[in-house]
Amino acid sequence: MPDLFSPLTLKGVTLRNRIAMSPMTMYRSVDGCMNDFHIMLMGSRAAGGFGLVFTEQLAITPGGRTSLSCAGIYDDAQIEGLSRVTAIIKDMGGVPAVQLGHTGRKSSELKPWEGGAQLAPDHPHGWQVVGPSAIPFGGKYSYPVHALTKAEIAGIHQSYAEAAKRALAAGFEWLEMHFAHGYLGASFFSPLANQRTDEYGGSLENRLRFHREALDAVRAVWPERYPLTMRLGSDDLNPAGVQFDDAVTAVGMLRSHGLDLVDLSLGFNTDDMAEKPFNEMSFMIERASRVRREIGLPVATSWNLGLPQVADSVIREGLIDLVMLGRPALSNPHWPVWAARELAQEDPFGLVPEDWAWWLRNFRAHDACIGWPPAPEA
Ligand SMILES: Cc1cc2nc3c(=O)[nH]c(=O)nc-3n(C[C@H](O)[C@H](O)[C@H](O)COP(=O)(O)O)c2cc1C
Repeated sequence: MPDLFSPLTLKGVTLRNRIAMSPMTMYRSVDGCMNDFHIMLMGSRAAGGFGLVFTEQLAITPGGRTSLSCAGIYDDAQIEGLSRVTAIIKDMGGVPAVQLGHTGRKSSELKPWEGGAQLAPDHPHGWQVVGPSAIPFGGKYSYPVHALTKAEIAGIHQSYAEAAKRALAAGFEWLEMHFAHGYLGASFFSPLANQRTDEYGGSLENRLRFHREALDAVRAVWPERYPLTMRLGSDDLNPAGVQFDDAVTAVGMLRSHGLDLVDLSLGFNTDDMAEKPFNEMSFMIERASRVRREIGLPVATSWNLGLPQVADSVIREGLIDLVMLGRPALSNPHWPVWAARELAQEDPFGLVPEDWAWWLRNFRAHDACIGWPPAPEA
């Protein structure tokens, strides 16, 4: 049985371990471009041993960004910054992964530390938000939503394909579609946001048409040797929203559209949630392992997996295939090295580049000289 540090091969890509830095929006872009900040952020995580390193969600259209400061992949001018990101990740031994998305009716926001308010369509930094139906999310997202026409949906799928081509040109080797967190893909799936009466609404099959067409558009241009995955909003935790049983069926329906792995997360199509499990350790694991068992597709998940023993056990017990770390990756760029020491792996510093691994292995006296407490006994 593999453990957290076993390699994972999917299609033509092998990760050195089962640890991924989860996508995290940083509000640090100008004109949607990645810059030195992103090279630092993702390069240091690859150098710290993460096998797979995700960009934040990259918007496939300008209006698909969460805020004006979010990154995008809708313009060829964005390829240069993205290429620098993929080059440093590869140089540090990681595999670069891209997350493509569209924030839908939750976009046109201020940065969280500027209050996070949604901006009106006529605000100089705001725009008209879109969704499957003209239903605002509610709460802070109160501006009218434009219900996409069928021609506009086709345009979005075209933008997905063009974004995937740019991702390939920039050197990414893993592509995840963001269909979670109340963004556009999540809202097409959820009856809370999607009340269309055409072929994109109503039945479960219709509410998944957007996803099938998006996956088909991307798979047509994304090489077979590279994994195509999706993050699915698998539960709205609301009786009128997506139920987890629907998500299991959905993964079964979507897998034949080129999916190699599914990353299970929550729907977040409403703030009105019957339960809020956010303080519970590894609360997505039961759901993710059910998909793995019943559908037979490799699965990943995130949410409160940041303790090394927990992350290791969900792999050892065969519950999931890949651990996604968000906040633990933000707080500790060397999380994999730390975890390897905590779990008494033989050569934790084998995870950092040889340029400094050599010194840490060979130029040693007192344990304190490397700035770590003594490693637990093997
Ligand atoms: C600052 C921040 C930004 C995030 N941005 C994204 C994003 O762009 N795309 C996404 O799918 N999830 C995003 N997430 C969610 C994380 O990828 C992850 O699923 C979540 O934080 C739970 O994992 P954790 O408990 O390890 O932090 C974000 C989370 C944080 C903390």
